[in-house]
Amino acid sequence: MRKTTSLFLSAAAHGAAVLAMLTASVGAHAQAWPTKTLTWIVPFAAGGPTDAMARDIADKVGKQIGQTIVIDNTAGAGGTIGAGKAAKAQPDGYTFLVGHMGYMGAGPALYKKLTYDPVKDFDAVFRFPDTPLVLLVPKSSPHKSAADLIAFAKKNPGKINFGNAGAGSTSHLVAALFENKAGIDTVSVPYKGAAPAMNDLIAGQVDAMFDQTNTALPQVQGGRVVAIGLTSSEPIAQFPNVAPLGAKTLPGFEAATWYGLYAPKGTPKEVITKLHQAYLKALSDKAWTQKMSDLGIHLLPEAQYAPEALAKHTAAEVAVWRKVAADAKISID
Ligand code: MLT
Repeated sequence: MRKTTSLFLSAAAHGAAVLAMLTASVGAHAQAWPTKTLTWIVPFAAGGPTDAMARDIADKVGKQIGQTIVIDNTAGAGGTIGAGKAAKAQPDGYTFLVGHMGYMGAGPALYKKLTYDPVKDFDAVFRFPDTPLVLLVPKSSPHKSAADLIAFAKKNPGKINFGNAGAGSTSHLVAALFENKAGIDTVSVPYKGAAPAMNDLIAGQVDAMFDQTNTALPQVQGGRVVAIGLTSSEPIAQFPNVAPLGAKTLPGFEAATWYGLYAPKGTPKEVITKLHQAYLKALSDKAWTQKMSDLGIHLLPEAQYAPEALAKHTAAEVAVWRKVAADAKISID
C-alpha cells in the first residue's frame, strides 16, 4: 500500500514537472514567434489581383514581424483548392490563407462538396482593404460602352464570352450578377486566376472580363485593354471617363471584392494578435496607403480590419451569398 502511494505521489510530481515544462515551452514558443518563414496561400495564379495585394501586404507585415512571408500560389477551382489545403495545415502560426469573397463567402452556396468550412475551419486574422472591379474589353472590341455590350448580348444570346478567375471567383460572380441584372445570357470561360484570363483578354481570345482595379489599372493605362464600366458607386479618378455601371446603365449595380487573412482553426491567439498589430502598424504608413488608393483600392475604418470583425463579416457573407446566389441563379455545373 505504502509503495503504491509513493509511486502515485512520484507519478503526480513527475506529471506536474512535465506540465510545467510544457507550459513554459508553449509560452516560450508564443513569445519567440516567428522563428521561421511564414507561408500565405494565395489560391490563384501569380500576377492576379489577389496575389498582387497579398504580396504587397505580406512584404509590409513581414518587415514588421522581422520574418519573410512567402506566397504559395495553389490555384484552381475558384480558390477552393488552396482554401482546402490551408484548412488542413498545422495551426502552428506559420501557414495562412489569403481569403476573399468568392471561396470564403459564396463558396458554400455554390459548391456542393467543399473540403472546408470558411467559418468553422479558420480563425480570422485581419481584413484587407476592399477592391472594386472594372469591366474590360480587348482594345480591338467593337463594344465601346457597357450599354453597347449589353445591347449586342441581348440580340445575340450566348455570343459574349466572359473570362474569369475560376468558378466562384469574384470575376465570375460579378459577371454573373451583371448578366442577371442586364437580362443577358453570356458564356463563362474559367481560368486558374485573373492573370491568365487577362492574358487571353489582351489577345482578344475572350470578349470581356471583370478585374479588380489594382491589376486592371496598369493594363488600361498601357492601352492593352479598354475599361467600359466600374462596379464602384462613385467614379474613380484613375479611370477617367469610365462611369460606374450603377449610375446609368444598370441602376443600383455595385460590387467590390473583400479579402482577409485566415489561419487554420486553433492557431495560437497570440500569433493572431501579433499579426493584426503588425498590419495596423504597417497601415500607419500614409505613403503606402496612398499607393493603394491610387490603384482604386478602398481603405476601411480601422475597426473593420480586426480579427473579430473579419470573423463576423465572413459568417454574414456566407449567409448573404446563399440568398444572392439563389436569387441570381448562380450555380456551378
Ligand atoms: C477573382 O477574380 O476572384 C480574383 O481576384 C482572382 C485572382 O486574384 O486571380
